[in-house]
Amino acid sequence: MSQAARVVTVTINPTIDQTIAIPNFTAGAVNRVQSSQLDPGGKGINVASFLSDYGQPATVAGFLGADNDEIFRRFFARKGIDDRCVRVAGQTRICVKVVDEARQQTTDINFPGQAPGPADVERLFGILGELAAAHEWFVLSGSIPAGMSPGIYRRMVTALAGKKVVLDTSGEGFRQAVTAGPWLVKPNLDELQEFAGERLDTPAAIVRVARALAGQHGIAGVVVSMGKEGAIFVEGEETLWAVPPAVAVKSTVGAGDALAAGIVASKIRGLAPAECARLATAFATSAVARIGSGLPSLEAVQAGMAQVTIRDVRLSEDPHED
Ligand SMILES: Nc1ncnc2c1ncn2[C@@H]1O[C@H](COP(=O)(O)OP(=O)(O)OP(=O)(O)O)[C@@H](O)[C@H]1O
Ligand SMILES: [Mg+2]
Repeated sequence: MSQAARVVTVTINPTIDQTIAIPNFTAGAVNRVQSSQLDPGGKGINVASFLSDYGQPATVAGFLGADNDEIFRRFFARKGIDDRCVRVAGQTRICVKVVDEARQQTTDINFPGQAPGPADVERLFGILGELAAAHEWFVLSGSIPAGMSPGIYRRMVTALAGKKVVLDTSGEGFRQAVTAGPWLVKPNLDELQEFAGERLDTPAAIVRVARALAGQHGIAGVVVSMGKEGAIFVEGEETLWAVPPAVAVKSTVGAGDALAAGIVASKIRGLAPAECARLATAFATSAVARIGSGLPSLEAVQAGMAQVTIRDVRLSEDPHED
């Protein structure tokens, strides 16, 4: 695949996820760790991981703490991902998940992370400017680090005007970035409700808000993800509901990132809207059926596509009907 088809994903608030298994975990007592695992996290990094597993080259940009970047370097080398992340003084934040299978509960312990300063931000924009010369696809994903301007994604979308920019973030950062006209946005239902300032209880209400958003600021596509209910894809005149099959869920972490990766992979391949919805949903269902941010085999994704039901929402607004 040509260098020009490389997708750039941007992660400004990465994590290192440490999953620790402790049966019968008890606060205020001595706890013995049964097993422990460290995984690179961060939403754009997850997207790059899914793309690379699909054979789609990816470059990562954003920030990484300089003091503990080894796990990322090894991960990128293993996946063939180009690393253009700015190194920031200090550590990438660590998110500890204490998984207690005996009591079926998880305890989260999140460290504060590095705070990128103004010079780091300018370096990131310098790199994005360089990458924009030879890349068409950019995926901007995840939360904004504490202390950073909520306008950072709007500034990125503006700097990348004319590129195929996919935006997946929430809150004020999302609200501001939308006005700069990203090419496609992928809110989940909670994020869309927050944006709309109202509860969206029916498929018709979700479609109404998604279609209105698709018409604004030059936004070409809106994908609203709804967990096990699937996702609504709005593109041009088309509104499709992709309903996943029932799957045995291992971990829903990164499901939205898999969906975003599948959208980009299918668009680069020139797939029609229904096939895009099918492939993206197959990426997502493959992701929830396993732990960690990656795809199983390409065959599994292919087989998953056949199990997705695509409904034209203009004809039926309830995926469970007919
Ligand atoms: N329990 C599930 N069963 C089947 N498919 C699922 C399930 N949960 C999520 N998916 C698939 O993953 C897609 C994205 O999931 P979801 O709407 O939860 O994204 P998200 O909230 O953005 O997730 P993230 O935590 O990664 O940001 C859904 O559209 C669906 O295709
Ligand atoms: Mg999400």
